[in-house]
Amino acid sequence: MRVFSGVQPTGNIHIGNYLGALKQFVALQDEGDCIYCIVDLHAITLPKEPKELKNHILDVAALYSAVGIDLKKSIVFVQSDVPGHAELSWILTCSSYTGELSRMTQFKDKAKGDESTPTGLFVYPALMAADILLYDADIVPVGNDQKQHIELTRDIAIRINNRLGDDTFVVPAGRFLKEGARVMALDDPTAKMSKSAESEMSRISLLDDDGKIKKAIMRSTTDSDGEIRYDIENKPGISNLLSIYSAFSGRSIESLEQGYAGQGYGTLKKDLVEVAVDALSPIRDRYAEIRHSGELKAALEDGAERANAIAERTMKRVRERFGLGR
Ligand code: AMP
Ligand code: TRP
Repeated sequence: MRVFSGVQPTGNIHIGNYLGALKQFVALQDEGDCIYCIVDLHAITLPKEPKELKNHILDVAALYSAVGIDLKKSIVFVQSDVPGHAELSWILTCSSYTGELSRMTQFKDKAKGDESTPTGLFVYPALMAADILLYDADIVPVGNDQKQHIELTRDIAIRINNRLGDDTFVVPAGRFLKEGARVMALDDPTAKMSKSAESEMSRISLLDDDGKIKKAIMRSTTDSDGEIRYDIENKPGISNLLSIYSAFSGRSIESLEQGYAGQGYGTLKKDLVEVAVDALSPIRDRYAEIRHSGELKAALEDGAERANAIAERTMKRVRERFGLGR
């Protein structure tokens, strides 16, 4: 089984990214051959300061390692180091429809009908499809917000297979977790936790210190009925805290509800602070060890080489099927 996923090199990688995606990346290493990409070509769909982008690429690589991705066993690499992504992206763009791309909610949210929306934001899902199809991936671990993009990837793969032969592309499947797949903002549990929200209290970043973790959880928005119960509709704040607690600890929501029955929100929050700090402080330590090491740079070089070998094989097949080249 081949596994592929990617994270954009931006700052503020948060516990939503960790619980929805990165934790799956680590676990899947025991089940298949894993390829994890730092998708810098995706990051430039909105203008990025070049020096900052360079740093964020290494930040994400170091975080991959810090959360438990084995840089020797899995392939970890930077997207722009493998030219096949951009090439296949164009080919898939030509097999995608403007109608389906216009229906992507991430595009609609970001573009808001503005005429000066960068075109890259519009064709972003074709680049994501290229990432996945380039490696014949079977499984793509992601958070719930990527469901629509995975569906589109499958549609494009099936469309091309129907035209050019069933074995042109492997049709991938998304993998989503039960808890953690959609972590909400701590200060506004009706919005998704995001890297770009202005309020620092909306998220816990993986490198936040213990004080910040505590502050964000203790101040998180709840409700006034005082009952610890999972009910997304009526109690989004408490439901989000229970979900995060469950994802960090492995305890089921039901067991948490039973354990905290009759107790106050303060107790739940205090315990969650402890659970989060215990999970995040070792990640912070490992990150500090590897971020500026030669080991990290060597791993990315080796990753690029291994990824490129697989990508080139796919591209030969794809160019052939499409009749491209001399
Ligand atoms: P990105 O930072 O957009 O590259 O996202 C990296 C991964 O984190 C993707 O698999 C997303 O689906 C996942 N992700 C992002 N935000 C959240 C969230 N709030 N809850 C759960 N997963 C998320
Ligand atoms: N679009 C994804 C996100 O914003 C990142 C991504 C790019 C990705 N290419 C991918 C995820 C391929 C999985 C597979 O989160």
